[in-house]
Amino acid sequence: MSGNEAQANIGVVGLAVMGSNLARNLASRDGNTVAIFNRSYEKTRGVLDAHPEAGFLPAETYREFADTLAKPRTAIIMVKAGAGTDAVIDELVKVFEPGDIIVDGGNALFTDTIRREKAVRETGINFVGAGISGGEEGALNGPSIMPGGSDESWVTLGPILKSIAAVAEGEPCVTHVGHDGAGHFVKMIHNGIEYADMQLIAEAYDLIRRGTGKSPAEIADIFAEWNRGELESYLIEITAEVLRQVDAATGEPLVDVILDQAGAKGTGAWTVQTALDLGIPVSGIAEAVFARSLSSKPAQRAAAATLPGPSAAWTVDDPDAFVEDVRRALYASKIVAYSQGFDEIVAGAAEYGWSIQKGEIAKIWRGGCIIRAQFLNRITEAYADDPSLVALLTAPYFRDALAASQESWRRVVVAAAQAGIPSPAFSSSLAYYDGLRADRLPAALVQGQRDFFGAHTYKRVDRDGTFHTQWSGDRTEIEAQDTH
Ligand SMILES: NC(=O)c1ccc[n+]([C@@H]2O[C@H](COP(=O)([O-])OP(=O)(O)OC[C@H]3O[C@@H](n4cnc5c(N)ncnc54)[C@H](OP(=O)(O)O)[C@@H]3O)[C@@H](O)[C@H]2O)c1
Repeated sequence: MSGNEAQANIGVVGLAVMGSNLARNLASRDGNTVAIFNRSYEKTRGVLDAHPEAGFLPAETYREFADTLAKPRTAIIMVKAGAGTDAVIDELVKVFEPGDIIVDGGNALFTDTIRREKAVRETGINFVGAGISGGEEGALNGPSIMPGGSDESWVTLGPILKSIAAVAEGEPCVTHVGHDGAGHFVKMIHNGIEYADMQLIAEAYDLIRRGTGKSPAEIADIFAEWNRGELESYLIEITAEVLRQVDAATGEPLVDVILDQAGAKGTGAWTVQTALDLGIPVSGIAEAVFARSLSSKPAQRAAAATLPGPSAAWTVDDPDAFVEDVRRALYASKIVAYSQGFDEIVAGAAEYGWSIQKGEIAKIWRGGCIIRAQFLNRITEAYADDPSLVALLTAPYFRDALAASQESWRRVVVAAAQAGIPSPAFSSSLAYYDGLRADRLPAALVQGQRDFFGAHTYKRVDRDGTFHTQWSGDRTEIEAQDTH
């Protein structure tokens, strides 16, 4: 037993990149004393030695860690998501008591969080799944935090999380998202939107580069300029930085020496898998996930490299006008991606019984996290004006923005198709926009086909009821049971 008994008001388990930075962030705030624990003690020792200013209280065992924490004990787990999280929870439950709080700050799948919350609740201990975004830098200086869990745990946890969260326009980027898995669900959607945002930016860069012949450094200037307008965001800002970077070894733009195969850690795929289960079209996010998958298929890409492209050369007559068209296409497609992401939040909240304040979610994404952007204020305003808004892109501000952008968007998608430049996120977002606003969709024909081969029935536009045409008989129509 150490001499640390019950002196810490908060503990961190897992001291890799995220945990050590979060622990330092906690320790830097007035009133916090932070207990730290890592499975292998070398890491604890390393963090302790490197940051004497933090006043950490180290523990070598879970029992010692529990004894170091004042009651109700509050500990944030920052370990490898999955089996690592379950292993730590199993150990903490043995040494914690009813009323204590275990927070999982890792990137857990929300259904795992629902399962864990249910199991831990039976011990009387509170379990909170909290999505934390912002990477290493955010963890240290202020992330965006999306906690779920019970109202009781929020009472203790709220002030602590508010003290370490990023601050945007004077407000901490944290809110009690909803119960059990709501926080990790919203973090998952954040990451899905992040995938779409990154893919759209990448497509914009590619089109400008191949359409105008500008260098990465020149395109960096364009992104820096865009960052002063309605596209202002962390991702646009860092894009300019990446494009401006020169490789020390070759003297080439770094972007030209990076292998063009994008990796993924799975949260984008979760967003799409969950959307499929909920029946929500998140096509922009899905295309972004698939674009990464396609990029990472070297054998297929090599085999397809000789397939023919457009026969005519593609030229951009007015480079400045083209760049402006791409900017508008990017903004319009971004609106679609966020609208789709919020649709998924609404559907998830309905399915899992969460009361999620959509405007508050947009607010806590304004700082700390990867998708932080000016534009999120417009989303908060849209939901404040109309809490029952059925689709974000129909809110007046976004309707106007889309009206101002849609002709540019179409020109860009046409140009990309004619030039043979892949623009899956731009074009699928435009297709979504046109699909949603269409007066009639060919879904009527799909219903006819379904009725033909499977007697799946259809509804009519001119009268109530469910109908089936007797396709293999005399093709008369009969009233039928609705089988969808
Ligand atoms: N990296 C990011 O930018 C980022 C951003 C947001 C969220 N996250 C999430 O934050 C969490 C931590 O991320 P990270 O990159 O700092 O670390 P990580 O590489 O995901 O995980 C390493 C940590 O997990 C511990 N661990 C693994 N299995 C364990 C087990 N069975 N029992 C106890 N501890 C175990 C390791 O302990 P040992 O030292 O003993 O091996 C180490 O402390 C993850 O869930 C990650 O998805 C990361």
